[in-house]
Amino acid sequence: MKIPFVDLKAQYLNIQSEIDEAIRGVLNETAFIMGSRKEAFERDFAAFCRAPFCVGVGSGTDALYLALKALGVGPGDEVITVSHTFIATAEAISAAGATPRFVDVEPDGQLMNPALIEEAITPRTKAIVPVHLFGQMCEMTRILAIADRHGLVVLEDAAQAHAAEFHGKRSPLCQVAAFSFYPGKNLGAYGDAGAVVTHDNEIYKHVFCQHDHGRPKGFKHEHPALGFGYRMDALQAAILHVKLRHLERWTDLRRKHAARYRERLQEVVTVPHEHPNRRHVYHLYPIRTQKRTALQQHLQAAGISTGIHYPIPAHLQPCYGFLGYQRGALPVTEQCADQLLSLPMYADLTDAQVDYVCDRVLEFFQK
Ligand SMILES: Cc1ncc(COP(=O)(O)O)c(C=O)c1O
Repeated sequence: MKIPFVDLKAQYLNIQSEIDEAIRGVLNETAFIMGSRKEAFERDFAAFCRAPFCVGVGSGTDALYLALKALGVGPGDEVITVSHTFIATAEAISAAGATPRFVDVEPDGQLMNPALIEEAITPRTKAIVPVHLFGQMCEMTRILAIADRHGLVVLEDAAQAHAAEFHGKRSPLCQVAAFSFYPGKNLGAYGDAGAVVTHDNEIYKHVFCQHDHGRPKGFKHEHPALGFGYRMDALQAAILHVKLRHLERWTDLRRKHAARYRERLQEVVTVPHEHPNRRHVYHLYPIRTQKRTALQQHLQAAGISTGIHYPIPAHLQPCYGFLGYQRGALPVTEQCADQLLSLPMYADLTDAQVDYVCDRVLEFFQK
């Protein structure tokens, strides 16, 4: 049996008529930039996140950058985040002119460890960027309390956490969150796309103006501010709008597959930890094992593709060599980099495929 790591073709075939109709609609309207498709998606995605404002932008990286700028992060500032993430989290901080300061993650759940934040705060610290990695939200109550105590702003990197919940609430729990719609995400476009979602009208207005060449809503020829071109295009908005209708069902299916993986694999590998009172949406399903390379090869030989998220943590990337972190600085993060292996995880997996993956993993450990 061949099981790809992500199967975007299967997803497309399941919703083909809706997607084709939406694309045809945009082609017939020939309105590709801004316009009603983008507005409709922004309205409905904001409602999905239970927030009043959303701006559709070019990517999750754009969303992080624009949100940081709207929060006033800039040169001379330090921003506390995690190294166990996709590089874009740190890159956006650098692009805003600030310096990332990495804290380690908790051994359980592998999310930002709130117990380590206060010792990383310096007089230059301006913000905290928790990352809701793999589909589970961080311990936001403690993170927000620390931010409050020290007068720091918070931006949630929710690129992997559409529909995730913390005590029944969705991101953003703070003022603002950045989402990615990279094709393989739980809600994925057919190209690059992202969104800033916020509870704060001032942040919304700032991001809106910045993402459209310094034009506030309704302006055409006048540019009161200097902005740039960070817009989500209408084709992506139309595709995402169709997919948004399916996201709850897809999330339930991911959770069902995760429950099956857990039930069958927890005796042989460390399965993802689900914190109580959080809805994990399983963007990824990374298991932890000291035999990662051999297991990955065994699965590959059986037709199963897997992934590694992330083999080189941000603090050890060559591009961040200038920050001076050495191996050993963030032990839990480094253990994740050495031992995590992501199994196939998407709504369109069949029960037979999930069981085939489990059989092959169990077979490996019985040898
Ligand atoms: C945690 C995290 N942050 C940021 C990003 C950046 O999003 P994008 O690829 O849409 O720019 C991604 C995804 O790629 C991500 O997984």
